[in-house]
Amino acid sequence: MRAIALLTSGGDSPGMNPAVRSITRAALNQGIKVFGINRGYSGLIIGDITELHSSDVTNIVQRGGTILKSDRCEAFKDPVVRNQAAEILREHGIDGLIVIGGDGSLSGAHLLTQETGIPVIGLPGTIDNDVYGTDDTIGFDTAVNTALEAIDKIRDTAISHERIFLVEVMGRNSGHIASQVGIACGAEMIVVPEYEFNLESLCFSLATQRARGEGSSGIIIVAEGPRPGLTSRLATQLEEHGEKPGVCILGHIQRGGRPTGHDRVLASCLGAAAVNYMLAGFSDMMIGMVNNEIVATNLQDIIEKKKVLNPQLVELAQLLHK
Ligand code: F6P
Repeated sequence: MRAIALLTSGGDSPGMNPAVRSITRAALNQGIKVFGINRGYSGLIIGDITELHSSDVTNIVQRGGTILKSDRCEAFKDPVVRNQAAEILREHGIDGLIVIGGDGSLSGAHLLTQETGIPVIGLPGTIDNDVYGTDDTIGFDTAVNTALEAIDKIRDTAISHERIFLVEVMGRNSGHIASQVGIACGAEMIVVPEYEFNLESLCFSLATQRARGEGSSGIIIVAEGPRPGLTSRLATQLEEHGEKPGVCILGHIQRGGRPTGHDRVLASCLGAAAVNYMLAGFSDMMIGMVNNEIVATNLQDIIEKKKVLNPQLVELAQLLHK
């Protein structure tokens, strides 16, 4: 193997840059040429490829986003387009591809290698943490901490005005961000797609607190989930119970910002490991971290298996609020 390429794909996540740096330097230090593909699969299919030198990844370890830019590429769902992409890689003398992204991007990588034989290694890069085969995805820890910084501020207002705030966090169809954030901010309730929730009992306990002459304030964390408009429907229900809920949708703020130390170290470890696996002849695998060990999992499993939300986290949240 003489040259590899890498791309970042799907929603950007803090830690993609340290991963790009790690892959680039780990490969260069083993005498392998490195090419960066701009704008994910969208750049690959038009040959937007540039050679990366060590100096190109200087001073990026602390930066959010991705210097390679990212995109969600509909066209890559077409097998004809994937074949063209493989031709482009071959024309550039590229012997293998490392893809950093979430489940959709990793599915694309799996199909590319299955159909064309181009060796592919994936890294889990998404704030959602909804990827099987790794305890944490690159960017998850930063997103949780970014959300917490905002929610701690919202809490000040909630306490001062004795109000309830509904805070919607990202996570696509999963509640990984919501459950971590909920515990860390001491939420009164966490609403995740994986579990039933009981707004009535929360309303009852708020009303009881008021009847005792206690101020009642609180934070409800709502995972965006697959049901659009859930947060505003919950606000309406709270209003019907006499509350004056505030609603805050944190949105894309959770995708940006400097990666935490955890994400920088995770990305650096996984990036270097991805290069080693590729040079050792592995393909069609994702490299993750499970119980502090580097683990390679078949991309087929990554696509088929769902990462389960830890039920203990949701139970713990219920146990901890008064
Ligand atoms: O997958 C990352 C993520 O931020 C999800 O949490 C969210 O549902 C989605 O991407 C938003 O995507 P877009 O930026 O394309 O609107």
